[in-house]
Amino acid sequence: MSEFKIIKAGPEQIEDIINIAHATWPEAYAQILSEVQLNYMLGEFYNKPYLAQRMEQGNLFYLVQHKEELLGFMEIELDEKPGYTKLHKLYVLPRAQGLKLGRLLMEEAIVIAKRAGQQGIFLNVNRYNKAQQFYERQGFSVIETVDINIGNGFYMNDFIMQLNFK
Ligand SMILES: CC(C)(COP(=O)(O)OP(=O)(O)OC[C@H]1O[C@@H](n2cnc3c(N)ncnc32)[C@H](O)[C@@H]1OP(=O)(O)O)[C@@H](O)C(=O)NCCC(=O)NCCS
Repeated sequence: MSEFKIIKAGPEQIEDIINIAHATWPEAYAQILSEVQLNYMLGEFYNKPYLAQRMEQGNLFYLVQHKEELLGFMEIELDEKPGYTKLHKLYVLPRAQGLKLGRLLMEEAIVIAKRAGQQGIFLNVNRYNKAQQFYERQGFSVIETVDINIGNGFYMNDFIMQLNFK
């Protein structure tokens, strides 16, 4: 049996999710976002009411656990566009990266989406984020380039990547 477990997260784990994001983002985005934008985005997207509301609306959050430690998380939304699941977030703590935990979470997302009869999974990734290569390794390819206005004069310069099951 694997020493790593995937568990479904509920409201009681929101603080853990916020902590993992705060421990992961500065390193992941150091070369990509200004410190001001990074702090703005963490504040907007990683606060308790915002995440609780996303859970209430049916988005699914999963954590990867090793013994008592939580090492990463993901958020998915079935049918974000008809027939397709969106992977909204996928973060593994810097010290746990490269241990196949990202892949483990992604495999779980694929199982859940297939079980729900979805045709595929898509996601946004910053155009300068090396996570793009991770997603390519999992079979995703770029389908669109988008610049999204997130307020306060900030933009997310993303690729949309998609994996079709058939
Ligand atoms: C991107 C991330 C989720 C990947 O998770 P991980 O646990 O580090 O990656 P894994 O160990 O599961 O790697 C799985 C495969 O992808 C490959 N891979 C991972 N990162 C890669 C990279 N930057 N470039 C090329 N390949 C990569 C691995 O070599 C491995 O290949 P293999 O299956 O042939 O052995 C994780 O590194 C992370 O949280 N990064 C920082 C935050 C981030 O950018 N998140 C994505 C936001 S869109």
